[in-house]
This record gives sequence, C-alpha cells and structure tokens, in this order.
Amino acid sequence: MESIDAVRADLLALIEDAESLDAVEQLRIEELGKKGRITGLMRGLASLPAEERRAQGAALNVLKDEIVAALDRRRTRLEDEALDRRLVTERVDITLPPRPESAGFIHPISQTIDEVVAIFGEMGFAVAEGPDIEDDWHNFTALNIPPEHPARQEMDTFYLPGERDGHRVVLRTHTSPVQIRTMVASPPPLRIIAPGRTYRCDSDATHSPMFHQVEGLIVDEATHMGHLKGCLIDFLRAYFAVDELPVRFRPSYFPFTEPSAEVDIGCTRSAGKLEIGHGSDWLEILGCGMVNPKVLAACGIDAGRYQGFAFGMGLERITMLKYGIPDLRTFFESDLRWLRHYGFAALAIPSLVRGE
Ligand code: PHE
Repeated sequence: MESIDAVRADLLALIEDAESLDAVEQLRIEELGKKGRITGLMRGLASLPAEERRAQGAALNVLKDEIVAALDRRRTRLEDEALDRRLVTERVDITLPPRPESAGFIHPISQTIDEVVAIFGEMGFAVAEGPDIEDDWHNFTALNIPPEHPARQEMDTFYLPGERDGHRVVLRTHTSPVQIRTMVASPPPLRIIAPGRTYRCDSDATHSPMFHQVEGLIVDEATHMGHLKGCLIDFLRAYFAVDELPVRFRPSYFPFTEPSAEVDIGCTRSAGKLEIGHGSDWLEILGCGMVNPKVLAACGIDAGRYQGFAFGMGLERITMLKYGIPDLRTFFESDLRWLRHYGFAALAIPSLVRGE
C-alpha cells in the first residue's frame, strides 16, 4: 500500500500545479471521489489489525482535511489572480465624458393637467377622481338627464355590455359623474376639480373618441354666481397668462346646472390664424352654471341649505390654444417627433407653483 506521506506529497504537488479552476475541480472529483487514492487507502483499513486501523484511520482523516483545505486555497488563489488580471485590463477611465442620457418629455395634456391643478390648487380646490367606466346613473340620471332626455343621444355614448347595480354601463361621456361621486361620498362643503379621460363616439379633425376634461365643483352655503364668474375669469387669465384676457358669459343650457352659461374668451381671427387674448371675436372655452337643486337632491344633499357651482372644460382645446398645436389628432398618435417638439422638460412644473 502506498504510504500516506507519499500520497500527501503527490496530491499537494498536483494541486499546486493545477492552473485553472476547472483543473482544481477535476482533481477534487478524481482524488476525493470513489476511485481516488484516499478512498482506496480508507478501504484498505479493513484488513489491518484493530490497533493499527485506529491510528491509520485518524491519519487518513487528517490527510483528507488537508487535501480539502489545499484545494480550497488553490481555488481562492486562482480566483484572486483572475480578478487581478481583470482589474488591470478592464480599468475604467473616469475622465471620459458621460454618454448623453436621452431625456423623456411630458405630454402637453399632462402638462396642462399639472398647470390646471396648480392654479385651482391655489384657490383651495382638491383633486378628485372617478372611473372611466361608469354606469348611466352617475353619468346621466343623477345629473338630471333622465333616460328619454335628448342629451343622452347628443353625447354619442359608448355603451358597454352588461349591467352594474341594475344600470347600463358606459364609458363616461364627461367628467361630470365625478361631481356625483364626490357629493355622494362626502357632505358639503366641497371644493374639487376632477381632470380625466372622457369618451364619445366621434372622430374627425377636431374630435377624438377619447379626450380629456376637467370638472370643477363647489358646494357650500354661500357660493353664488358672482363667485363662479370670478373664479373662472381668474383661472383663464392665469392659465393663458394674459392679465386683461376678455371673458364673456353667455346664457346656455345644461340639465345639471341652473342657470347655465358658456364661457368665451376674446380672440382675433385673421388669415386663418387665431390669436388669443385680444380682438373682437369670441371663442367658446367651457360650460358652467349653478348646481341644479335636483342634482343636489339626487346626491342626498339638502338643496334648501346648500348651493354651489360646477364647470367643465375640454383640455385638448385649451392646450392647443396655449401652445399653438394645430391638429387634435396628433395628441394621440404617439409620434415621438411630435412629443419632442411639443413636449415639456420634466422639471417644467415646479416653477408654476408660487414660492418654488
Ligand atoms: N359636462 C358638460 C359637457 O361635457 C360641461 C359642464 C360641466 C357644464 C359642468 C356645466 C357644468 O359639455
């Protein structure tokens, strides 16, 4: 039988000569495995007298531990050397200029929503939200638009299959159902705006089947038509950044407000160009009115005690006017060249908010 010392010397030499991690692994499998020399020596123990077997067995265990440790050391050594080589060859040159990051852009509609929220936020309005998929009670009935009302046809509603709580399911045709959800959810006083997506089955140069509105609602014991006018004039002048912007309130009709008005801003049209802020022409910009007592009652609010106003405004239109974007359809074509041209840098908003 080979002596333990001879096996030790041989194995340690082999381990020292292993030049790769693979070679070390190969040695481990061969020498510590079933067919390895150490295993062979262990097997030989059986034929030894008891006394010798004990001494020899202990010595073999020590040998085995030594070999395992030597393999580990060699492996660590090879790994360290490989890392050292990489550190030398893969040095990072930190003096190189960084590659330019391609910056994202804020979509003009998102920018407008942020501006509208900032301006009304200054006036104490909180932001409320409602679902795009509505039922016809919130979208119509509670807003004093009963099933046979012609406004239901005019709205070109998208109806969805099925029912919800016994009501037909629709894609909301305006943000006004958020008024209802707000009044049902919390008692007055209320002061909210609700920006969001709206849907009508209509598509041409000035209509998109999906578009955006912002709704406004105040309900308390004292708010009257004068507040409505002041609030919207202030908003329009702040949004268009024209101090003397002419604003006109024209009597109109909406089932959910009484009295109702449409609001126009002053503009000039010449040679096919439209300029906001001065001139003798008018451009319709939003609908508004005092909340119809029937709507308050439908939401469980005491119409003898509470009153307020509501308004609704298309966001694409005011965005097109402010930023000179000529075609509504381009908003939703997702053309990156368009977004790079009309989009906003990500940090453009905070400057709008006072004090930042
Ligand atoms: N919901 C109306 C529309 O979509 C706008 C509106 C809202 C009018 C609130 C009055 C009050 O045309």
